[in-house]
Amino acid sequence: MKTVGVVFGGKSPEHDVSIISAQSIVSNMDRNVYAPVLFPMNREGQLFRGDGGFEFLKSGTGEDILPVSFDELKKMDVIFPVLHGPFGEDGTIQGLFEMMGIPYVGSGVESCALNMHKGLFRDVFAVKGIAQPHYRYFSRVDKTASLKEIRQTLALPLFVKPCRGGSSIGISRVDTIDKLEEAVETAFRYDDCVIVEEGIDITEELEVAVLGRPGRLTVAGPGGLIAGDIFYSYDDKYVNKRTRFQIPVEDLPAEVLSGIRKLAATAFAVTNCFGLARVDFLFNRNSGYLALNEINTMPGFTDISMYTKLMMTTGMSFSELVSALLDLAFQRGR
Ligand SMILES: Nc1ncnc2c1ncn2[C@@H]1O[C@H](COP(=O)(O)OP(=O)(O)O)[C@@H](O)[C@H]1O
Ligand SMILES: [Mg+2]
Repeated sequence: MKTVGVVFGGKSPEHDVSIISAQSIVSNMDRNVYAPVLFPMNREGQLFRGDGGFEFLKSGTGEDILPVSFDELKKMDVIFPVLHGPFGEDGTIQGLFEMMGIPYVGSGVESCALNMHKGLFRDVFAVKGIAQPHYRYFSRVDKTASLKEIRQTLALPLFVKPCRGGSSIGISRVDTIDKLEEAVETAFRYDDCVIVEEGIDITEELEVAVLGRPGRLTVAGPGGLIAGDIFYSYDDKYVNKRTRFQIPVEDLPAEVLSGIRKLAATAFAVTNCFGLARVDFLFNRNSGYLALNEINTMPGFTDISMYTKLMMTTGMSFSELVSALLDLAFQRGR
């Protein structure tokens, strides 16, 4: 029997999504092999331990809850960091596990940090020749010069985003140039680095699920979505839920679908992902244009999430998926 420290909640705005992901993972864990131990983390980043971890984060009280130091994680055989967004999916907590020498699920420090930063991963994809929107990213000191250049070189509509975010928080679509600066200020409320991208004329977004390690990847999908809002916004994701999903996409030529899967595997490899990732694309089915949008190193992980649903299309059960990820954690570096 192996003990699995499940760390969830955390400091990011995706705290609530993380709780639901962790509940799904724990309820699908093979108890013949793995014994889960809950480590809820509150919104201040304080770590606790206890069986009532889910209730604790939702209501503030829970059975046998104790505040613990991060050292407590060392007692586990493996950690499953079910944390989305900053301070969880960005290499920070992965660095702690590396320091402790404890196996953990998912990508390592540099891959998490790179894929969290919408400016830096675009630089890497540019070098590797992967199609993506034209972009420019900048900090506050470079704002004036950057805006001037953006007005001259990028075509409307524009997407303005905090470089390190998630769940579409702080993102605006700009259709007239006089709205650009306001959108940039909105994004600066969430990060000290902002990226402006040319908006791609899309018919839908495609998401591919990747599981495994270099040379031994399972690639599933793509799944498709058509946003209910003017883009796939926070409201669309969690409030109105007007998005239309197609999981998996079947009404495209087989060679197009396999080309997308191949590109997802390439993107996974060039950013040094490990274990799992969801690779997201912007797609126009009329022109066939496909651009890489982003890679999520800890995608939403509930039984209705795109990542898990796509993996199930390969014939794998949720519980087999969790076991595969835990098994991979022990293979890192080998
Ligand atoms: N360059 C772009 N062109 C067209 N739509 C975009 C572009 N960038 C982002 N979007 C839209 O905004 C959404 C959120 O952007 P994304 O970069 O995925 O941020 P997050 O990390 O918060 O999910 C996308 O799912 C898509 O609907
Ligand atoms: Mg996204």
